Amino acid sequence: MQKRTLGKTQRTLPAIGLGCMGLSEFYGPPTEQSAAIKLLHEAIELGVEHFDTAEMYGIGANESLLGEAFHDRRDKVFIATKFGPTRNPETGEFTGIDGSRENCRRAVADSLERLKTDVIDLYYLHRVDPATPIEETVTAMAELVSEGTVRTIGLSEASGDTIRRAAKVHPISAVQSEYSIFSRDIEASVIPACIDTGATLVAYSPLGRGMLSGRFKAESLADGDFRSMTPRFQGDALQANIALVDEIEAIASAKGCTPAQIALAWVLGRGEHVMTIPGTTKLENLQANLGAYEIRLSDGEQATLGQLADRVKGDRYDERGMSIINA
Ligand code: ATR
Repeated sequence: MQKRTLGKTQRTLPAIGLGCMGLSEFYGPPTEQSAAIKLLHEAIELGVEHFDTAEMYGIGANESLLGEAFHDRRDKVFIATKFGPTRNPETGEFTGIDGSRENCRRAVADSLERLKTDVIDLYYLHRVDPATPIEETVTAMAELVSEGTVRTIGLSEASGDTIRRAAKVHPISAVQSEYSIFSRDIEASVIPACIDTGATLVAYSPLGRGMLSGRFKAESLADGDFRSMTPRFQGDALQANIALVDEIEAIASAKGCTPAQIALAWVLGRGEHVMTIPGTTKLENLQANLGAYEIRLSDGEQATLGQLADRVKGDRYDERGMSIINA
């Protein structure tokens, strides 16, 4: 286990947390509630503390799941959730991003109720609202800290410039962005902004949404799986990307570990300012992922892995998704 400090706070957390989104939505059908709660309880037993959810995952269902799982063991978990994106509750369709003070206050009250808690450890703006200056949104989030309903605040998929502006209003403890062997675009300006402002980078999709495990050589995506809507998981790009995983598998087999563990060790190896939240719905994958704490990559291995991102084909989101990142 490796512990790291969250932003400029005194709080330390195990560097590997659990991304909970896939238990409720986006990666095929939701996990049955009792199985999901069992997994969340087992995660605590395995030493996981940091659990990541959002208002929009399952339109509240993912937060409600965590509320059920954790209300009687709140002191054992660190709960991160997010607000901003809005959806039609009937159709699930995305209707926009609302970073207004009014929506921030409405959202936090709803999240606290669903999570069955009176405080959220880390509250993120999930996507930056182009119509609300970041200073206004962060001022509203900072009010929640002074009122005691939120302990620390963060931004997700924000640009370096936005992070720097936000940090002038209130300490930004975490920036959550996609970051993996295959997705390194944030190294240009987001990571430097994290380092300069003292924010922890919380790397989501460190397994490339499962691609880096190599499983999609043999497995196809379920109908309606959100990944099949992303260019990286489509047609020739998918085949080319899966072929790149061979290079990760070769390193894994030489070290006697799995490619998913290599992917996580690579993210953790980027520095003390990084934590990661791989997602899984399965105990065996969770256990294997935590095995990444024990893996160290040599300079040669890092060099081989370091040249893969430039060869990845296809964007990580569809056009709409790409238009709201790095904002
Ligand atoms: P996200 O942050 O979006 O959840 P991720 O962490 O990069 O993305 O990858 C999550 C995906 O990797 C899930 O589809 C998960 O599937 P399971 O629920 O079946 O585990 C898959 N995954 C996680 N750990 C894995 C492992 N050790 N081996 C294979 N697949 C794994």
